[in-house]
Order: sequence, then structure tokens, then C-alpha cells
Amino acid sequence: MIITLDGPAGSGKSTTARMLAKRLAAVYLDTGAMYRSVTLVALENGVDATDAKRLDDISSKISINFIEDENGQRVMVNGRDRTVEIRTPEVEKLVSTVSSHKVVREKMVHLQREIASKHPKVVVEGRDTGSVVFPNADHKFFLSANTEVRAQRRVTQNSGSGIKTGNMVQEIMERDEKDSTRQVSPLMVPQGAVEIDNTNLSLDETIERIIRLLA
Ligand code: DC
Repeated sequence: MIITLDGPAGSGKSTTARMLAKRLAAVYLDTGAMYRSVTLVALENGVDATDAKRLDDISSKISINFIEDENGQRVMVNGRDRTVEIRTPEVEKLVSTVSSHKVVREKMVHLQREIASKHPKVVVEGRDTGSVVFPNADHKFFLSANTEVRAQRRVTQNSGSGIKTGNMVQEIMERDEKDSTRQVSPLMVPQGAVEIDNTNLSLDETIERIIRLLA
């Protein structure tokens, strides 16, 4: 069984997908972490985020594995635990550009399908998982929330970084625009997906709603 969860930044996808996978005893596949991994390797090898040829090479050779342990999910990139490094501001800044390359996306989509094929139950989270990666998924969801709420969630998540909510609203609007208008696999509500606006829902309420819809 494949369940896809797509949505914009700050829509709560990651936490929802992780908890949903736990509730269903399913594997959680974080596709954003895979684009972050390619970005990290590019950064460490001095490869420019616009260099499609070298990014293609990195994407072809990279090994990405997810390991569950008592601290949650670890992301192993080329055999090393890079869970923390893929979330740095340097990676954050470039991942949008890296993930917009067709060659990179093709390689990651192939890997995502390969990983999913090895497990009976998978919750996949990303931007194109219900539209491009698994168009025939058993259940598809699209999470959203209003911009201010998403910005506030991100500010809370990054507390201590000094980012103000107003600036985050701007950043989120720019990211939405970039993700929705890019040529390859833009962010969209996949055909057949159930849209859940969680502006006024808690995490538990969002998960309960999804579980009811699976029945
Ligand atoms: O969900 P996240 O913030 O970890 O995603 C990081 C970046 O990867 C984000 O800018 C969009 C991109 N991404 C994508 O293009 N397609 C996906 N399926 C998942 C993420």
C-alpha cells in the first residue's frame, strides 16, 4: 500500500507523514531528504547548483538509505550518517535549484520507486509524490494551511534563528511561487488527492482525519 502526502512548505507534511507511518507500521519515505542529500554532496564537491551535468553524475552515483533507530530516522548518504548536515542553511538555500533539474529528479524518482517496492506499506512525503512518482498510489493527500500559519510554524521550528514572522511570510510566498511554477514536476494538487486544510487543525486531528479516510 502506498500513501502519498504532498503540500507546500510549512503545511506539516513531514511530521504528519512520520506519525502516520508510525501509526500504520509503514515505512516513511522522505523524498525532500533525498534532494537535500544530492545538494549536500554537490556543496561538498564544489559543484554549482546550476551545473546539470555534474549534478547528473552525483545523482547517478549517490547512495541514500534511511535507517530507523530510537532517535527516529537517520539519513545515510554514501555510507555516512548525514541526518544533521542535510538540514543546514547552506543546503536549504540551494536545494530548490538543485531539485529543479530534470536529470536529478529522474534519478531520485527511480530511487524512490525502488525503495517503495521493497516494502508492503509506505507513506511517501514530498511535492510530486502523488502526481509524478506514484500516480497510482492507493491513497493521496494534499496538505495545506494559510500562509501566515505556515510561516508561524516555520518560525517556531527555527526558534533561535532570529527570523521574524513577517520575513518568513515573504520567504514562504516566494518558495510557493518557485515550487508551483517550475517546469519539471511543479507543486500541485495531484489528481485524485484529498485536500486537507489544516490551518485550524492540530497534528492529531489531521492524522485522525487521514486515518478515517483510509478506512
Ligand atoms: O520537504 P523539504 O523541505 O525537505 O524539501 C526540500 C526541497 O526539495 C524543497 O525545496 C522542494 C524539493 N522537493 C521536491 O522538489 N520534490 C519532492 N518530492 C520533495 C522535495
